[in-house]
Amino acid sequence: MYEGLKKEIATYEKRTPKSAEAHRRAVQRIPLGVASNYRSYEPYPVFVKEGSGSKIYDLDGNEYIDHNLCFGVLMAGHNHPAIVKAIQNALQVGWAFGMPHEMEWELAEEICARYPVDMVRFGSSGTEVTMHACRLARAAAQRDKILKFEGGYHGLHDTALVSVKPTAEEVGDIDRPNSVSAGQGIPQGTLDNVVVATFNDLKSVEYRFKQYPNQIAAIILEPIQMNIGMCMPQPGFLEGLREIATRHGALLIFDEVKTGAKLALGGATEYYGVRPDIITLAKSIGGGAPLGAFGAGRAIMDLISNHKIFHGGTYNANRISMSAGLAMFREVLTRENYLHVTRLCKRLTDGYRAIIAKVDLQAYVASAGAIGALMLFPQEMLSYRDWLRLDRDLWCHYWFGMVNRGVLPQPYGYDEQWTISVQHTDADIDRHLAAFEDLAPAVAKAQQACSGTFVGSPH
Ligand SMILES: Cc1ncc(COP(=O)(O)O)c(C=O)c1O
Repeated sequence: MYEGLKKEIATYEKRTPKSAEAHRRAVQRIPLGVASNYRSYEPYPVFVKEGSGSKIYDLDGNEYIDHNLCFGVLMAGHNHPAIVKAIQNALQVGWAFGMPHEMEWELAEEICARYPVDMVRFGSSGTEVTMHACRLARAAAQRDKILKFEGGYHGLHDTALVSVKPTAEEVGDIDRPNSVSAGQGIPQGTLDNVVVATFNDLKSVEYRFKQYPNQIAAIILEPIQMNIGMCMPQPGFLEGLREIATRHGALLIFDEVKTGAKLALGGATEYYGVRPDIITLAKSIGGGAPLGAFGAGRAIMDLISNHKIFHGGTYNANRISMSAGLAMFREVLTRENYLHVTRLCKRLTDGYRAIIAKVDLQAYVASAGAIGALMLFPQEMLSYRDWLRLDRDLWCHYWFGMVNRGVLPQPYGYDEQWTISVQHTDADIDRHLAAFEDLAPAVAKAQQACSGTFVGSPH
């Protein structure tokens, strides 16, 4: 471990003794002491007391400018007045009926007005809706296989848990990556039915369609591959996927769990101008309440109407989530607010770039809409194979260093991004940049001292 990182972790431990204590208690009853593996890290995670607007406060009373925002769920920021009011209203009239109500149609109208779909169904998480989207595609195409990209994350169902973070030893040939199980418990049959290609490499996609003629039901991807930081689609890649899918009678699924709200008012379709067959939405569309949705053209969604495929869920369309979702679309995800977050995101991006150049850090910043990430890599990453070569200690140095300076720059995880909420201000961006300016020389020095720590072969 770098000296600089050791110092930051020592400072972190000094600042957060109550989190350490809470974690010691939690591990006795909860595996890893956290409710989701993604929240676990060494030496222990920050335990939160409360949040407000663009800030959160930990058990020791430390304040942080929050760009984690619950893994990108809160483009509204914490406790947005419109969301609070909507949920309070729902609490007055009841929130769980297991029967239809009018907000369902209202929210479906909002979604169909923004995204290229005719009909939608609701769920409670991203995992749920990508699972239903894959099943819908399999039924629509009458084929079993799903093509996904190495390093892509689509939630926790079996189909999605293939080649999420395979190791360098497991990945295989970059032109035809292995289907690698993310942990135990994924049936071999599932691995056989999920074929893997390399992001930004249309050849690897074509190869799979040739290898499995008339067997691939759909290509699923995030239009910007996140969960490896931010890997931008190179010009022509999304258009190429659209063409390949159509030519082979397969469907194109855009997993817009993250991009749907945060990229632009009309999600990736508006941003990139490429039209998928099915989209999945979750995270920021619910303002922090558990809300997901999947949608498609009428012919595809009629498979549900005609009882060809089954979709259900006890918590679907509960009124807390639906009220929060309606408030998001009508009062938070407005054109005006998109201008605000994209302006702040650009300021943050430009500020990072200037500091990176000043201290001679080998790094770059990728950003779009309300999201961005410092990529501690010398040139633009094109796929998961580049990401595998990241210097993780250096990234931890950056993350703990920022946390110690009162900024949660993104969720813990080399694979995450920052989110700017509608409640962030110019003053928050100033403080964020001041913290990075203070830290960056030490990170650059550590990088220079350990030059050559990028592992594996370049793309
Ligand atoms: C692109 C994408 N799809 C699906 C999911 C799963 O969503 P959830 O955690 O709500 O199940 C995530 C979660 O991070 C995601 O980033």
